[in-house]
Amino acid sequence: MKISVIGVGYLGAVHAASMAELGHDVIGLDIDAPRVQRLTAGEAPFHEPGFAALLRRGLDSGRLRFTTDHDELADADAHFLGLGTPQRADGFGADLSALHAAVDALATVLSRRGGTPTIVVGKSTVPAGTARDLAVRLEQVPGVRLLWNPEFLREGYAVRDTLSPDRLVYGVRHPESSGADGQAGDGQRAGAEGDASGSSELEVGMLDAIYAPLLEAGVTRLVMGFEAAELVKVSANAFLATKISFINAIAELCEATGADVTDVAGALGMDDRIGGKFLRAGVGFGGGCLPKDIRALIAGAEDLGLGQSVGFLREVDAINQRRRVRVVEMAREMLGPLRGRRITVLGAAFKPDSDDVRDSPALEIASRLMAAGAQVTVTDPEALENARHHVEGLVTVADTAEALRGAELVMLLTEWRRYRDLHPAEAAALVAAPRIIDGRTVLDPRAWREAGWDLRALGRPGDPAASPVAPVRLLAGT
Ligand code: UDX
Repeated sequence: MKISVIGVGYLGAVHAASMAELGHDVIGLDIDAPRVQRLTAGEAPFHEPGFAALLRRGLDSGRLRFTTDHDELADADAHFLGLGTPQRADGFGADLSALHAAVDALATVLSRRGGTPTIVVGKSTVPAGTARDLAVRLEQVPGVRLLWNPEFLREGYAVRDTLSPDRLVYGVRHPESSGADGQAGDGQRAGAEGDASGSSELEVGMLDAIYAPLLEAGVTRLVMGFEAAELVKVSANAFLATKISFINAIAELCEATGADVTDVAGALGMDDRIGGKFLRAGVGFGGGCLPKDIRALIAGAEDLGLGQSVGFLREVDAINQRRRVRVVEMAREMLGPLRGRRITVLGAAFKPDSDDVRDSPALEIASRLMAAGAQVTVTDPEALENARHHVEGLVTVADTAEALRGAELVMLLTEWRRYRDLHPAEAAALVAAPRIIDGRTVLDPRAWREAGWDLRALGRPGDPAASPVAPVRLLAGT
């Protein structure tokens, strides 16, 4: 099928290349001309394992191309909306201006198609109610139907998550008459005669045809109303954020009681009602999605007069912010006043296998250390260029050994494999003083302490030999 992807940022570019991989004829559109040029030249504009190869395969096959010209969208039968919905500058809600501008431009192109069945498929994360508004605008154009098909991809696994997702969610205007059984479809296009108003069968059939290889491979697709589909996405991210802040709150209790949060999380996760994923304590969540999505959900609920329903998400956000402050306090506990002290931060990206530094805990902590007068050096395998754009005056060093040389304190804040695998004795030989804070609870404290390091970790006891922790009773009278 001929399809377009409008907005080829992270999500859109991965989606466009993945759709070409599935055999479709894909055109990716963006108003950012340099980005379009880079993609056309086969250059990945961000670090994502597997993406560069997928992009080049698509370009070489002739099935994938990029443009800035809306007129080139005219002969596509399906248009995916991959636009960003960043946090609004004036507060908590989502900024939908790029999405609205793209829909307006698209509607003009589609009105020239003479009623040919065409689907528009929203993939952006949006507040509930957005799709219904956009549908009113788009479905004035004869033949055009809208679906909302949220994207759940994780950075670092984006290609895998797109080509073998846990599930496909289709939000439609009339879920009760979509012709869908909620299970994997047969990939057949529904009758093009379709309907004029009351059924969603046509658009579901067209999207099934696009995802046919995934459906044939057994991926479940779930058809539901627009609002449910919009809410699945934001609530999934809110749940993940809550899980992380939950374990980080327990980490605060662990620090006060001398318990080890990795013991608690390990045992909790073995209950399969809870599950072990997203229970790694540390400096918390960052990135372009989790922080903004919980804030947008709070704003959306408040607009509905339901602030109370998601009030706990404010606490999720607050716990997350608190961990960033706590780790700086820990540095002070180890070094005393930070002015003039040499600190090496391992990691700048918000998570490993990504060069994304949006709302990165590592960078915010580095900035706080700098503000306290410390001489900070940051290293990261992929994110240093982005980091320098984000933090003015940031000192960066690409080579890990060079970054460690002369440090009075090392702080591991993004758990790239190369930092998890550091050899404690070799690292000790490079630094000025063997002190380390494990901000991601990934290092083996015993191995590091045996190599002479003073190791502290968020949510884990200090060195029992250096500072025995008196057991603390949490419950009065016990
Ligand atoms: C997230 C969602 O997982 C994905 O489904 C959605 O489409 C986009 O948002 P992403 O932002 O790529 O994906 O990162 P994710 O892997 O979810 O990690 C988010 C943050 O949580 C990172 O900063 C990570 O370091 C942190 N994290 C994750 C923890 O602190 N502890 C954990 O146990 C897991």
